[in-house]
Amino acid sequence: MRLIAHAKVNWALSVLGRRDDGYHELDMLMQSVELGDSLEIRLDEELTLTLHGGPRVPSGDGNLVLRAARRLREAAGVAQGARITMKKRIPVGAGLGGGSADAAAVLLGLNALWNLHMGWQDLRALARSLGSDIPFCMVGGLRRVRGTGEQLEALPCGAPFHLVIVQPCAGLSTPKVFAAYDALAVRPRNPDIEAAVAALAQGDPAALARAMGNALTPASVPIRPQIAMAAQTLEHFGALRAEMTGSGSAVVGLFANAQDADFAWRQCIALWPKSYLTRTTDRGVSLCP
Ligand code: C5P
Repeated sequence: MRLIAHAKVNWALSVLGRRDDGYHELDMLMQSVELGDSLEIRLDEELTLTLHGGPRVPSGDGNLVLRAARRLREAAGVAQGARITMKKRIPVGAGLGGGSADAAAVLLGLNALWNLHMGWQDLRALARSLGSDIPFCMVGGLRRVRGTGEQLEALPCGAPFHLVIVQPCAGLSTPKVFAAYDALAVRPRNPDIEAAVAALAQGDPAALARAMGNALTPASVPIRPQIAMAAQTLEHFGALRAEMTGSGSAVVGLFANAQDADFAWRQCIALWPKSYLTRTTDRGVSLCP
């Protein structure tokens, strides 16, 4: 079985407050994009993972893919194995949900290959216990995501949108960014999610550009000032708007059309090797023919 685990971007990310358990109550618009990691999963006696690319991804027990596979095996009470081969393309520590997408693909793939017939409610609970973004990555498309990632509402998307994503610097750790957010003297302004929902439904990139926003940007930029520089540069090269995704450190430029995005990507790749030309898609995990 061959799968593509798609990256996600945030059109909007609002922080509503901090809960007693330390997690933050969020309200987000999340969107799958075509950029993705490739996975091949075959039945085997042992459970193993071979990685190509992404040198900073842990390959042993710390890898989210193996943790997800083991957790699924325990929950289902089976003793089967699988040989998983993964080619990483999604940059790490980028706010693009790369590790979450890989884990989502493995949960869906093994549920099918091992004939477990586990339903959405159980899979979602298992996914959430492994990471906040994994439930979204299992379904993908365009969704409003609330709570800490477990409440998912499907939304209509009026058109594909053309993007250039760049990671202009080293990755960022999500807990570190949330800690920096908590330490800010002034609470950042949350984006207008309703306006973004309307722009997406109409397929209107100019209106979406006006509504995009990320409340974590003022927490991440002091740690990685390159984020602000990359956003400015993308807008200079023709993006209607550029904004950080998730907790960073990648920045997403939104373009009016495919030609504008292609032009900007050709400029960006000369500055940052981790520059990606992509567009939105309606699924989190796709099956290769
Ligand atoms: O669930 P996930 O592994 O993505 O979260 C990593 C860390 O990010 C959490 O341990 C927490 O510190 C922070 N986080 C948060 N609020 C969220 C999601 C993540 O504070 N809604």
